[in-house]
Amino acid sequence: MKTVLITGACINTGVAIVEKFAAAGYGIVFTGRAVEKVKAKEKEYQAKFPNVPVTGYALDSLLDERTVDEAAVFMLFADLDAKGIFVETLVLNAADQGLGQRVFENPLTDLMKVINTNVVWNYCLCEHAAKRMKENGGGNIVFINSNTAYRAIPDRIAYEASKGGQLGLMRGLALDLGKYNIRVNAVLPGMIKTDRWEKNPEFYANVPSRFTPLGDVAVGEDVADAVYYFAAMARNTTGAELVVDGGNTIQLYPVLPENK
Ligand SMILES: NC(=O)c1ccc[n+]([C@@H]2O[C@H](COP(=O)([O-])OP(=O)(O)OC[C@H]3O[C@@H](n4cnc5c(N)ncnc54)[C@H](OP(=O)(O)O)[C@@H]3O)[C@@H](O)[C@H]2O)c1
Repeated sequence: MKTVLITGACINTGVAIVEKFAAAGYGIVFTGRAVEKVKAKEKEYQAKFPNVPVTGYALDSLLDERTVDEAAVFMLFADLDAKGIFVETLVLNAADQGLGQRVFENPLTDLMKVINTNVVWNYCLCEHAAKRMKENGGGNIVFINSNTAYRAIPDRIAYEASKGGQLGLMRGLALDLGKYNIRVNAVLPGMIKTDRWEKNPEFYANVPSRFTPLGDVAVGEDVADAVYYFAAMARNTTGAELVVDGGNTIQLYPVLPENK
């Protein structure tokens, strides 16, 4: 049985990714930050997928804004080693969304926090996972990136920089790890229907219809399908990007409603 490790999988998109891989018979390792939330979600997944092993870990990326908790990543993989669990697929889904960071207003540490989680911590997870993949003859890594790596939205500079940085990380790792039969790819969602979108009905009612050729946002399952493609099917693909955004990235200007 193959095992996948999915970060940030107590809520939203991470849950859909867990469910996709569990339904396909993968053993599941997942993370969230709060111990109680992780324990509750672990029980829920175990009840829903009684035939696959599910293990949750509480893991925060940072000790403080400036410092990645490298020791926690070391301990996570040491614990997996002790349990005899080899992570064949690593899915880097957790992200600091860096919402509402305004130029001239936010301190530099707010930017550091986002870059540290989305780039530096993810690199740390990749390094520990890839070491085991190399020893086991291969594996693969999938980043949940964003089309904001290419196109900006307001008040999200740190997030956009982090997602751009993540693509550089993805390509560098793909090049350096290919010789160990480790593939590294990225899924680039645009807008995903999460609890955040539902709290913002005005935006949801107007933006997707005008800014995506398909007129709708992705659901978690759309992202999970793309992750699964890279992990389980794309034998000859590495360093690739798969955009799942209803066509949002290729549309130059908003399509206004027709006068009736
Ligand atoms: N939602 C969108 O519209 C959208 C669009 C494009 C790309 N994406 C990307 O898709 C992925 C999933 O998005 P989402 O909206 O489903 O995410 P989300 O609801 O914001 O959940 C993010 C997850 O990351 C974890 N996390 C946040 N900060 C962390 C930290 N400092 N250390 C460790 N874990 C941390 C959270 O843990 P807790 O459960 O403990 O809070 C949570 O499980 C992200 O990579 C995001 O950038 C999302």
